[in-house]
Amino acid sequence: MPPPPDAPVSAMRRLLPEPAGPVDPVEAYADLPVAAGRPGVRLNMVASIDGAIAVDGRSGGLGGGADRRVYLALRALTDVVLVAAGTARAEGYGPATVAEHLAPGRAARGQAPVPRIAVVTRSLSLDWDTRLFTGARADARPIVVTCASAPAQGLRDAERAGAEVLVAGDAEVDLPAALVALGERGARSVLAEGGPRLNAALAAAGVIDEICMTVSPRLVGGDAGRSLNGPEPRPGGTPMRLWAVYEEEGFLFMRHRTVA
Ligand SMILES: NC(=O)c1ccc[n+]([C@@H]2O[C@H](COP(=O)([O-])OP(=O)(O)OC[C@H]3O[C@@H](n4cnc5c(N)ncnc54)[C@H](OP(=O)(O)O)[C@@H]3O)[C@@H](O)[C@H]2O)c1
Repeated sequence: MPPPPDAPVSAMRRLLPEPAGPVDPVEAYADLPVAAGRPGVRLNMVASIDGAIAVDGRSGGLGGGADRRVYLALRALTDVVLVAAGTARAEGYGPATVAEHLAPGRAARGQAPVPRIAVVTRSLSLDWDTRLFTGARADARPIVVTCASAPAQGLRDAERAGAEVLVAGDAEVDLPAALVALGERGARSVLAEGGPRLNAALAAAGVIDEICMTVSPRLVGGDAGRSLNGPEPRPGGTPMRLWAVYEEEGFLFMRHRTVA
């Protein structure tokens, strides 16, 4: 049977654990990480060869067709997309969509048609008139993940905008508690999409199970940030184990998992 018209043509090939190709990104990434007592957390980031995570303040300048296909595959596989407010503001986040040809897979896995977006914020300084809130499907209400010290007016604004408010922690979001609460809402998998300050907090809390790092074939230079911006999660660094490597159009797609 020919592929449906909106099916992307991918020439991704696997380099490790053993070479294979072509591979479909949705199938390649279908082995979601699992964790006890909370949803499994997969972090996805793109960086230049020299480690920059943004060009002119956004990640778009690092991407390309191959990177976008992996990004969409990861979203198609997850229940919740977790994103920091800084990134949601910088990247102009909207509601998640899933390509038509990937919908049957979600249904077969018992997942909602599209993942919910959960924005992590203490300030609640979000634009409630953006499509993230005004354009969300009724079955994929955005979630605002915040803490007890959040401004009361912001909480009212969030609820008025149709968001579900999840409070975890006092001065800042208690990320392990927030993940447990997402699990109680039915999430089995969470795709963290950054940015660097949320990533550092997730790493410090020990709740990253897998890192999907795309190396974009570009040198950027300058003073762009790195994937983690925060205190060292563990003295001497946190060891991770290489799980798989793929390549397409010069982009390298690395997957590392935590060492048990
Ligand atoms: N290359 C990539 O793959 C990639 C991916 C994502 C982002 N980025 C880039 O990263 C940059 C944005 O970075 P950023 O420095 O703004 O960091 P960020 O991690 O995106 O956002 C930080 C903000 O998120 C909220 N936050 C994070 N952790 C929290 C916690 N534990 N409790 C409460 N709130 C928390 C706070 O929001 P409030 O201020 O609202 O309290 C905080 O100010 C952009 O340039 C973006 O393009 C790149």
